[in-house]
Amino acid sequence: MPDEQIVKTERDGRVGVVLMNRPEKLNALSSSLLGAVAEAMEEFERDAEIRAIVLGGGERAFAAGADIEQLDESTPMSLASRGPLGGWGRIAQVRKPIVAAVSGYALGGGCELAMLCDLVVAAESAQFGQPEINLGIIPGAGGTQRLPLAVGKALAMDMVLTGRRLTAREALQAGLVARVVADEAWLEEAKKVAAEIAAKSPVATQIAKDSVNQAFEAPLALGLQYERQAFALSRTSEDSAEGLRAFLEKRQADFKGR
Ligand code: CAA
Repeated sequence: MPDEQIVKTERDGRVGVVLMNRPEKLNALSSSLLGAVAEAMEEFERDAEIRAIVLGGGERAFAAGADIEQLDESTPMSLASRGPLGGWGRIAQVRKPIVAAVSGYALGGGCELAMLCDLVVAAESAQFGQPEINLGIIPGAGGTQRLPLAVGKALAMDMVLTGRRLTAREALQAGLVARVVADEAWLEEAKKVAAEIAAKSPVATQIAKDSVNQAFEAPLALGLQYERQAFALSRTSEDSAEGLRAFLEKRQADFKGR
């Protein structure tokens, strides 16, 4: 079990909820916090009942970045090895859809962690940024790669070179965030979105997630080829037969995850 102190988990029907819980440090991503998040995610990944995951923090902060105290003690070798950054790769391996529930600060590694999720639901007063430049370093967990893909080069350069923060509305307009909701609704809305995803065929949602990610990971021609194969693969599931038949018979589909 992950450390219950630092990460809280709950189940809400078919949705697994992972909440980072290091409020006194605004969820600064120490290696133990990141490891506990990865472990909780992997547990939900193995759990056949769970079909979508919500990752959130607290009201004041989703996460205020990598743990600067730990970074101060790090060496280039420890950072280049899996060491303190090891959790990132594990979270990226999760195949179930992940909804980030962001309230407060999503800065540095916190913004990168939100971008590692599949879609972001943000509270109106949430703030997104890559302030590493103010520390004399650069983003180290996707900020220079995923951010330009999400918001384009001009805004990514602005954020990475000046440390400018975006409001939730700006992040929505830029394409970093999928939905902005009233401050008190950030977690409920994220759970609602995850429940909506969890009601679909889990075979289809996982293939869809994988396929959308190819848009960022492969050149277009390869990505399109990948999508065509993934599309054909999705048509082989029992869920696809059920989904198509249910539509034609004008009834709700009953997806079994096969
Ligand atoms: N690492 C370690 N501790 C952090 C932290 C971080 N990233 N962010 C906040 N904290 C700690 C503060 O040191 C403080 O601890 P103490 O009470 O023990 O002093 C506590 O959290 C509360 O923070 P503040 O008192 O600073 O709260 P504030 O409301 O005045 O400011 C803030 C909030 C603007 C988010 C400010 O805390 C801040 O600028 N944090 C650092 C943000 C940052 O630079 N993030 C990038 C980190 S590097 C990175 O992420 C690299 C990467 O790509 C992987």
